Amino acid sequence: MLNYKLFTGNANVEFANLVAQNLDTNICDAKVSKFSDGEINIQIKKSVRGEEAFIIQPTCKPTNDNLMEILLIADALKRSSAKNITAVIPYFGYARQDRKAAPRVPISAKLVADLLETSGVDRIVTMDLHAAQIQGFFNIPVDNLFGSIMFQKYVENLKIKNPIIASPDIGGVARARFFAKKLGLDIVIVDKRREEANQSEVMNIIGDVKNKDVILVDDMIDTAGTMVKAAKAFKDNGANSVIACVTHAVLSGDAIDKIQYGELDELIISDTLPLSVTIDKITRLSVAPLFSKVIDRIVHNKSVHSLFN
Ligand code: R5P
Repeated sequence: MLNYKLFTGNANVEFANLVAQNLDTNICDAKVSKFSDGEINIQIKKSVRGEEAFIIQPTCKPTNDNLMEILLIADALKRSSAKNITAVIPYFGYARQDRKAAPRVPISAKLVADLLETSGVDRIVTMDLHAAQIQGFFNIPVDNLFGSIMFQKYVENLKIKNPIIASPDIGGVARARFFAKKLGLDIVIVDKRREEANQSEVMNIIGDVKNKDVILVDDMIDTAGTMVKAAKAFKDNGANSVIACVTHAVLSGDAIDKIQYGELDELIISDTLPLSVTIDKITRLSVAPLFSKVIDRIVHNKSVHSLFN
């Protein structure tokens, strides 16, 4: 019997419990609370000496608290002689500033990577990193899972008449191509220009969408500007319908309203992030079973990549 223990903080307890259930185990008892001044207070309740430890937690909002919880749990595990510490971060926040795209900006993703390593984390498991190159910010193994794989069955079952895959921007082409290959479909690309952070502008469609049923693929939907504008552009160019498969449903600001009243016919998301409000247009699929399989493979030293073949 291999010894491993699962931990979580407060970011998405429901998801962590689902991962644990699929592994026929429970999340281990740990205090993850706050001192009265707001500082995070951690205590692992059982021995982890010589064991594999997994911290399952997305760094969604409140991002700073959720990130700090991971760092402090890792520090506690390291100081309690855990053999290996894997941070399972289904949604890796602070990923958008991943290079010096303008003068005098931080490279937040690199700083977060350094913090995780310093805290004692030995391996990262994540899904659909905003930019795959962020893996290179770490000097430890990073498994960046393809989230779109979980949408495949659902989309196939929709029996869409004239489907085509779309990337909402140039940066997402590799992601869209992976999904298109799985489904044996062609892709079109939206050439999007963003003037300011969180403000998107659809400029141009590369490819023909006349009479097509468009399936947009993206890593995240935040303000929903990108998706709703892309959907409108496709419909203006003759598409029959537009649905979107998006891994991380950040859904900030008035995103839900934009989806409700916009041209997007359906939004399919995963449960990497907690969801407080939903509408009929949104379908939520669980990636917890996939993460459970990955944890099982890590514990048994088996290939993770083969899950995606
Ligand atoms: C952009 O590079 C990303 O892949 C998403 O398209 C973007 O972050 C979504 O943001 P929003 O929903 O605010 O337009």
